[in-house]
Amino acid sequence: MGTVMRIVCFLLFCITRVSAVDTFPEKIALGRIAGNVTLRCDTAKQHVTWKHDSEDIEPSELAELKDKQLILHDFQEDQMGNYTCWSEGELVDYTYILLDESWKFTDSIISCTAETFNCTFKICCRMDQAGFSVFRLRNQRDDSSWVQRSEDGFFYLTHSTNPYAEEAERLAVIGEAVSSSDRYFNISHNFYLRDIIKPAIPQIKHMSKNKVTVRPPASWAKPESYYPLEHEIQYRKRDDGMVMSFKFDDNMKVPDGMSDLRVRSRDSLLLSQWSDWTPWQNVRKRRKKKQRQRMGQNKSDVFQQ
Ligand SMILES: *[C@@H]1O[C@H](CO)[C@@H](O)[C@H](O)[C@H]1NC(C)=O
Ligand SMILES: *[C@@H]1O[C@H](CO)[C@@H](O)[C@H](O)[C@H]1NC(C)=O
Ligand SMILES: *[C@@H]1O[C@H](CO)[C@@H](O)[C@H](O)[C@H]1NC(C)=O
Ligand SMILES: *[C@@H]1O[C@H](CO)[C@@H](O)[C@H](O)[C@H]1NC(C)=O
Ligand SMILES: *[C@@H]1O[C@H](CO)[C@@H](O)[C@H](O)[C@H]1NC(C)=O
Repeated sequence: MGTVMRIVCFLLFCITRVSAVDTFPEKIALGRIAGNVTLRCDTAKQHVTWKHDSEDIEPSELAELKDKQLILHDFQEDQMGNYTCWSEGELVDYTYILLDESWKFTDSIISCTAETFNCTFKICCRMDQAGFSVFRLRNQRDDSSWVQRSEDGFFYLTHSTNPYAEEAERLAVIGEAVSSSDRYFNISHNFYLRDIIKPAIPQIKHMSKNKVTVRPPASWAKPESYYPLEHEIQYRKRDDGMVMSFKFDDNMKVPDGMSDLRVRSRDSLLLSQWSDWTPWQNVRKRRKKKQRQRMGQNKSDVFQQ
């Protein structure tokens, strides 16, 4: 083949691939290299013909027409794309063939956390894979529908876990991905809600030279006696800047000489994941602000995060 021919073929190939997907096609079929793919034309009509993108498909050893089915044998990469089915000159059905690469991936691509057990709160998942552009997730255990990625990069999935009962069955989160070059994979990520709990950032309610009071985040499950949290405090010493940390419940006395501190929390029964840290808070400045406030000079909230 001459160079010019090859360039022309390359250009043609590019043009036919322009139909590549940028969202999930409505009807998909999955192909694997050297496997067989069967497409069904959903119509009451008796005789149908097929097109791959805009090219007519002639029946052959590799493309078998059987009733209203098209069976592609020894499937190859250049056969991905949109297959339309026609009868009496009219489009009656279509299916998009994607190359199934699910065997390449493991469930570590999906990670999920939940702020609490409470079923009004959603599970927050991430799914990403280089080379793939469109993703969607669903909670198969609770038979919920597909969820698209929201603007902040997370997928928010609902669930029906009863917060007061032992969770008997794992959640099954299914993720699907499609690439702009018509590749596909799905993976299933199964877990108990109790294993993905990550509380929201706690609230520092009171802080003085040697005492700190921490409250659960607003989203944390109630009653608190049933869902106890433990906290970890980290503080920097005023004299040498050394960072110290230790764990405590709700109230604690802290040693003298802190310059600033931050706190994080976790479920103390489950030993769940730690929440993110609060921002560092300056101990002295807050005290000064408080004094100012008491003197009526500044009425705005002291607790800024
Ligand atoms: C496949 O072709 C049908 C019929 O022209 C069209 O409605 C559909 O959007 C196409 N699908 C994709 C993913 O291009
Ligand atoms: C594909 O179909 C052919 C003919 O029906 C069959 O012999 C072959 O085993 C099939 N291949 C696979 C991978 O299923
Ligand atoms: C995931 O893909 C496999 C093919 O690799 C398919 O058999 C299975 O039905 C898919 N699962 C879901 C939940 O879509
Ligand atoms: C879930 O928690 C929120 C905040 O604590 C509360 O307002 C809501 O009533 C709770 N719902 C259930 C079903 O427990
Ligand atoms: C009160 O505090 C706020 C926030 O720290 C600040 O923006 C404001 O200027 C202060 N007002 C006075 C009167 O100091």
